[in-house]
Amino acid sequence: MKTQLESIQKFSHDSILGAKTSIDLDLVKSRTLGKSSDFNGLMKMLATIPKEERPEMGKLINTVKNELEILINKKQKDLLKSERESSLATQKIDSSLPGVEFPVGTKHPITQTIERITEILGRIGFDTKEGTEIETDFYNFEALNIKEDHPARDMHDTFYLNTDHVLRTHTSPAQIHEMESNSPPIKIIVPGQVFRCDSDVTHSPVFHQIEGLYVNKKVSFAELKGTLSFFINELFGTTPIRFRPSYFPFTEPSSEIDVQCVMCQGKGCNVCGHTGWLEILGAGMVNREVFKSVGYNPDEVQGFAFGVGVERIAMLMHGINDIRLFYENDRRFLEQF
Ligand code: DAH
Repeated sequence: MKTQLESIQKFSHDSILGAKTSIDLDLVKSRTLGKSSDFNGLMKMLATIPKEERPEMGKLINTVKNELEILINKKQKDLLKSERESSLATQKIDSSLPGVEFPVGTKHPITQTIERITEILGRIGFDTKEGTEIETDFYNFEALNIKEDHPARDMHDTFYLNTDHVLRTHTSPAQIHEMESNSPPIKIIVPGQVFRCDSDVTHSPVFHQIEGLYVNKKVSFAELKGTLSFFINELFGTTPIRFRPSYFPFTEPSSEIDVQCVMCQGKGCNVCGHTGWLEILGAGMVNREVFKSVGYNPDEVQGFAFGVGVERIAMLMHGINDIRLFYENDRRFLEQF
């Protein structure tokens, strides 16, 4: 057995040192020490020799095995080093080749719509502010004259975080924060996410609104009309619009504003429910109760407010019929904007 070991040792030694490449050496390694190697066969034979000889023989085999492993590792290091050196010496970089191009993304259509709206209103003096997404019942409802038993609360499909905190159902609470911490004149817009427990082709549980608020000593409904007419004509081009009487607890009088249907030019189609008109805004003169809740004297100030649904505007502008497309992150959809 000893002679067998010696001849295996000699043979392995020679083939390790003879390996020309690191890949060759990997092969030699598995042939020398792998499962079906002679060396492994020898280990199995240990069981067949007399018991007293086993410890010494076992020790010997292990020593040889360790030696061979050390030799393989050293050889592997040397081979890798020389292979790297020769590849560096022969490789040339052609710096005149064009680089790898990374595709440039585009802004999300919702972001683009918000930027377009804030840009238009910015031109006529509205500062863009940020609100908070978690509100107390007071800011989301109470201060906006939506009292505890008000039926409007049902329409909001509110996500409650606990008994007093909600995910804001609209951007209108930003009006309260702004008036509480500033005095008139105030002229702001507040874009942001809002949350309602509602989901279908035209409703998403998370969507975007832009709130507008103008407060000064004297503000008239004519100014509200002028401002919103300008805004809509900048956004959609010159197109017929109409102010329709409506109701919101935080404005009095209130109005909803429609544009002539962009799909059928007023003839009537599925999109406008055959009315020829599309509702795009809610607005009105700030309710005296709202001024009272922020500590303003309603005899000394006046104002108007409006709220825009961003998804709705984007859907109308681009002829999109399913709101969920905005949130699926499908590049085939997003790349069109
Ligand atoms: N907060 C309303 C909503 O979410 C939208 C709205 C209507 C905002 C009229 C206003 C307004 O500021 O004057 O449905």
